[in-house]
Amino acid sequence: MVARRPSRAPVPAAGEGAADWAPGDPVRLGTRRFVLRSMTKRDANPEFLRWHADPEIQLGHNLPPKRMTRQQALASLVRADNRTVFYLMIASPVATHPVGFYAVRTDPRDLWAEISVTIGNRDFRRRGVFSETVPVLCTFLFSRLGVHKVIARIHARNTASIRAFEKAGFVREAVLREQLTSVADGSRLDQLIFALWRPEGKRRIPPP
Ligand SMILES: CC(C)(COP(=O)(O)OP(=O)(O)OC[C@H]1O[C@@H](n2cnc3c(N)ncnc32)[C@H](O)[C@@H]1OP(=O)(O)O)[C@@H](O)C(=O)NCCC(=O)NCCS
Repeated sequence: MVARRPSRAPVPAAGEGAADWAPGDPVRLGTRRFVLRSMTKRDANPEFLRWHADPEIQLGHNLPPKRMTRQQALASLVRADNRTVFYLMIASPVATHPVGFYAVRTDPRDLWAEISVTIGNRDFRRRGVFSETVPVLCTFLFSRLGVHKVIARIHARNTASIRAFEKAGFVREAVLREQLTSVADGSRLDQLIFALWRPEGKRRIPPP
């Protein structure tokens, strides 16, 4: 049994922190360099608001930049119940500013989870943050929530994200043809579904 750590604890060992988690508890997961932790009201800070207003970041999600107020940020953060919806900050003990965050929603009946990631802090882009943190997040979802698969929806022009998910072992499961309207130019845009299966469930996947 891993003891629950106080909020100012140093980075836990990789993967540490989930063993004594129960539904509704805040999540705290350690990776080699980062901590994934449930966001609190204090995380609705100027940096978080700036990420939503950054056109380049939002283009990755095919969303228009949004000038969000702190109240609006709080309203979305309170949706996280740490049971089926999670907002997890990616924090670094050596950085002044937060690194990014994951939004996760799960379907507890059909046992799948959908994740979305934003590495908002430019100092940390292409520094392996996603590659290091997503396996720990997925292990948590598989082992503690019992999900069978984790999916991500990525628009077809987001090559950075496509490569990142492929590198992390996700496979291109489906293409929703012309599913989206591009915020960049209004054209129709494919949406790709990437999936990672729970390791022991892999063999049960029927061929396409
Ligand atoms: C896409 C994103 C999540 C990648 O996170 P990251 O921590 O920078 O990624 P990593 O450093 O772990 O890179 C993993 C792999 O992804 C690919 N990759 C990442 N950034 C890339 C870029 N700008 N251009 C091309 N490939 C890129 C590379 O293959 C990389 O492996 P390599 O460095 O060994 O070549 C991040 O850039 C981001 O948050 N973008 C804005 C929001 C977004 O698009 N979110 C995804 C929507 S689901």
